[in-house]
Amino acid sequence: MATVKRIPADEIKGGAVVLRFDRSGVPYDYYARDLPAGMVQSVKKILAENHVKFAFVRETAQKEKEEEKNRATRVQALLEHMNQPIAQAPGKTAPEDVVTAREMHDRARQITKDIMSQVRMGNAVDTDASREVVSGLVESCFKNPETFVNLSRLKNFDDYTFTHSVNVAVIAISIGRKLGMSYGELRSLGLAGLLHDVGKMKVPERIINKPGKLTDEEFLLMKMHPVYGYELLRTDSGVPPETVKAVLQHHEKSDGTGYPYGLKEREISKYAKIIAIADVYDAITSERVYHKGIGPADALKMLFAWSGKHFNEVLVKFFISLIGIYPAGTAVMLDTGEIAVVLDSNGGPKPKVLLVTDEKRNRLISPVLFDLASRNAVTGRPYKTILSPVDTDEISINGSEIISRYMLTPPR
Ligand SMILES: [Fe+2]
Repeated sequence: MATVKRIPADEIKGGAVVLRFDRSGVPYDYYARDLPAGMVQSVKKILAENHVKFAFVRETAQKEKEEEKNRATRVQALLEHMNQPIAQAPGKTAPEDVVTAREMHDRARQITKDIMSQVRMGNAVDTDASREVVSGLVESCFKNPETFVNLSRLKNFDDYTFTHSVNVAVIAISIGRKLGMSYGELRSLGLAGLLHDVGKMKVPERIINKPGKLTDEEFLLMKMHPVYGYELLRTDSGVPPETVKAVLQHHEKSDGTGYPYGLKEREISKYAKIIAIADVYDAITSERVYHKGIGPADALKMLFAWSGKHFNEVLVKFFISLIGIYPAGTAVMLDTGEIAVVLDSNGGPKPKVLLVTDEKRNRLISPVLFDLASRNAVTGRPYKTILSPVDTDEISINGSEIISRYMLTPPR
């Protein structure tokens, strides 16, 4: 049976399975898995820098170790198998880390819902719980930097406000990491993402959820939400000032047409500029009662069109390079005639996709994972390539829904 043992941080060895440290928020890439021997020295340096004194490591009995090894081999084999050409690929599987990501996203959404509901009832913002959610997201971003941003493709139609808060945090953290922000900065930025709309809990629900156009009076009230958010957070010593500032400024625009103060580009904080991009990108790609979500590729085009006016131009370009030319959720037509949805953009032209139709455009019963980077060993040519993005309206395919459903399917 596995037991947990506390050991001094400077006694960590290769192969140690660390579950946690005596300090939270340590930028450590190997939680709950073997620490590679070659990384021991650099990890010890990071632990010393973060003032970590003890690590809690898992000690596993021999039999259990073997079982774990077998399981890891099975998962690896499954992943390799899924990367085979379509004819050999299994029909209904999802990589284990993707399922875990879904669980984490769900948990984060649930906690955010509780936090916001408390504020709606007149209570204070539970900033401890908020920071915990954000720390989990930042750790996940460090563990899977390439795929982390795809978490924001997980949508939940019924719980839009809370899902949106988590997604804005995810997108902001991804941008911040790519910008080289420190672990602490990412947590402050992520917290601003998670709580950017907390002030909406002080605006009457009928206005927040009104499907039609708001009256001038209602719009004035709605425009107060950044100020309400600021008021809710500014006296909490656990919330960094830059987080509070970003919440206050997340609707300001570069050309001075934003609210509440009509600030100009140079007066808006960097965090607020990042949150603004994340906020709008997630909002326009989400399905709402009163509007259909647009595809990620079109959303990037819109952000680009607004850059310099609403958003910082450099940050928008940076964001586009981060999301990639075929963002996750984009429907694409392949040279085989099949339609697919991009699952993992890799930032390049050869993403992992979910095939949703066969070559004659008949819908498959369940999506099939295919890696467009895979090549025919004899000819050296790719099996399939993307011809172009497709308008999802035309083919009645909902990219987000397909990804969400795929992620919910447990691996076999
Ligand atoms: Fe907002």
